[in-house]
Amino acid sequence: MSTNNANHTPVTVIGLGLMGQALAGSFLREGHPTTVWNRTAAKADQLVAQGATLAGSVGEAVAASPLVVVCVTDYDAVHGLLDPLGAVLDGRVLVNLGSGTSQGARETAEWAARQGGAYLDGAIMAVPAEIGADAVITYSGPRSAFELYEPALRSLGSGTTYLGDDHTLSALHEMAVLSLMWNVLNGFLQGAALLGAAGVRAGAFAPLAGKGIEIVNGWLADYAEQVDNGAYPALDSTIDTHLAAMDHLIHESESLGVSAELPRFIKALTDRAVADGRGGDGYAAMVEQFRKPS
Ligand SMILES: NC(=O)c1ccc[n+]([C@@H]2O[C@H](COP(=O)([O-])OP(=O)(O)OC[C@H]3O[C@@H](n4cnc5c(N)ncnc54)[C@H](OP(=O)(O)O)[C@@H]3O)[C@@H](O)[C@H]2O)c1
Repeated sequence: MSTNNANHTPVTVIGLGLMGQALAGSFLREGHPTTVWNRTAAKADQLVAQGATLAGSVGEAVAASPLVVVCVTDYDAVHGLLDPLGAVLDGRVLVNLGSGTSQGARETAEWAARQGGAYLDGAIMAVPAEIGADAVITYSGPRSAFELYEPALRSLGSGTTYLGDDHTLSALHEMAVLSLMWNVLNGFLQGAALLGAAGVRAGAFAPLAGKGIEIVNGWLADYAEQVDNGAYPALDSTIDTHLAAMDHLIHESESLGVSAELPRFIKALTDRAVADGRGGDGYAAMVEQFRKPS
């Protein structure tokens, strides 16, 4: 087995869906000898034409490189592929870049240790077109394993970020970022539906929506400090003031005939914050509602 060598570590990529193809293509462009395997072998054709080696089996793919990257749908698929191989890792570093929960990350780390390998759990916060450019990809697991292959992993994106020894951190950060993304997008789409009912095109709303997101982005550092300190002084407006505006959004949505479900849910959470005595606090106090089990 070849060892890590300058910037040309041999790499294996298992899973050649939209993301796996982008990962393997990026390793190839950076000059890494790249072995690939996919359940549906035809998805390797283009990569093989670019110089990749197609392994005949998952076992051959793992054996080919000291750094093995897996990017399949979920942890069940990872284990379906790797568990039957037995103790194959033998000093290799396994990196899983598929999505999943922190429990999946923890169990996979324990499994990898039993197979004699080190495990890095990764999370890709990017789309395939960003791989090899400015993709943000986080890694968690043993620092020594990350540092050994950091040059190779950096070829996947300039946003390569190591989060720490705890294997669960990447999966948890991915969930936190997905929560953020869906909430921002749902807010935009609710606004677009509201304006659309009044004849305003989403394209006309987009620049103002972008400004709104920038403004909120500017608040994050102060909000984070309040959340970490557990004290929420109302520096700009109180939760009581927000609550009144939420009523307006619900009534406007109802009168225009668009869904008021999301605004009603937000108001219900805010009502609970007021019932807990938080009406005079700043909006960051809403974190207390999110901290409770649902
Ligand atoms: N695409 C993105 O923008 C993006 C961004 C961030 C994270 N991710 C994550 O990356 C992972 C892959 O995403 P993708 O976009 O590449 O998905 P995809 O295009 O649907 O590809 C899925 C891959 O998983 C393989 N697979 C699924 N079940 C399998 C099983 N039971 N046994 C063996 N192989 C199996 C598929 O093999 P076949 O080709 O044989 O079906 C294929 O290689 C997911 O966890 C996704 O959440 C994707």
